[in-house]
Amino acid sequence: MKRIPPIDPKQYDLEPLLAGQGVTPDWINSDNGDPYSPPNVARHSIVEASRLVPFHYRTARPQLPELRAWINLLVEEAQAEQRRRGTVVASVTRGPSLLLLGGTGVGKTHQAFGAVRELAVTGVAARWVVTTAADMYASLRPRHGIDSESEFRRYRDARVLLVDDLGAAKISEFTEDVNFRLVNHRYERHRPTLFTSNLLPKELTSRLGDRVASRINGMCQRVVLEGSDHRRGAAA
Ligand SMILES: Nc1ncnc2c1ncn2[C@@H]1O[C@H](COP(=O)(O)OP(=O)(O)OP(=O)(O)O)[C@@H](O)[C@H]1O
Ligand SMILES: [Mg+2]
Repeated sequence: MKRIPPIDPKQYDLEPLLAGQGVTPDWINSDNGDPYSPPNVARHSIVEASRLVPFHYRTARPQLPELRAWINLLVEEAQAEQRRRGTVVASVTRGPSLLLLGGTGVGKTHQAFGAVRELAVTGVAARWVVTTAADMYASLRPRHGIDSESEFRRYRDARVLLVDDLGAAKISEFTEDVNFRLVNHRYERHRPTLFTSNLLPKELTSRLGDRVASRINGMCQRVVLEGSDHRRGAAA
C-alpha cells in the first residue's frame, strides 16, 4: 500500500461521511506514516473513489438504511477475515450483494456512488470495479485488439462490483450470456455486487431470465427506492 499524503476532507466532501462513521475529520490524516493503517488505507480509497465516481455524484452519500447496513456488513466481514488470516490490511473480498430497484430518477445511482464513497472512509480496502450494464456489454463486444475474456474477468473477479442499470439495455443472446456468466460466478464465490435496476420486481424474471433472476434473488437483498424523479424541475 502506497503512502498517501494528507488530504483535505473538505476537498472530497468527506465530513458528513466521516461523521457517519463516528470519527472527526482529522481522523483521516491521523496515522504516523504507517501505510497499512486504516487512515492511510482510507486516503488511498478516497483518491481512488474520486476517480471512479462521476463528477455529478462527487458529493453523494448513501441514505438508505439497508445500503448503509450492507456497507457495515462488508466492513465487518473484511475485519473478521483479517483476524482469521492475520493480514495487515482488512479488504472486502466476500459478502452479500444488494439489488437496488426503483423508477427513473429516484436516486439509485446517487445511492450507489454514495456507497462507493462511504466504503472508502471506513479504512477497509475495497477495490471497486464500477460500470453500467450497457458499458460493460459494449466493452466485451469482440473487436480487434481486445481480449474480451480478460476484460470479462475484470468484472467477474472484481472484489466489489457496481453494475448500474441492469436490465435497461436491449436484450440479446450476448447480453444474456454475459449476465449469466457474471452473476453465476459471483453468486458461487460470494463476491459482493451492488446492482441497480429500473425494472419492477415482477419484471426481473421475464427480463433477465429464470436462471439469472434466481441467482440474483439468492445472493441479493432487494431494496426498492420509492419516490419521484429528482430530475423533474431540477433545472428550473
Ligand atoms: N439523496 C439525494 N440528494 C441529492 N440529490 C439527489 C439525491 N438522490 C438523487 N439525487 C439527484 O437526483 C437526480 C437523479 O438521481 P439518480 O441519477 O441517482 O437517479 P436514478 O434512479 O439512477 O435514475 P435512472 O434510473 O434514470 O438512472 C440526480 O441529479 C441526482 O444527483
Ligand atoms: Mg441511474
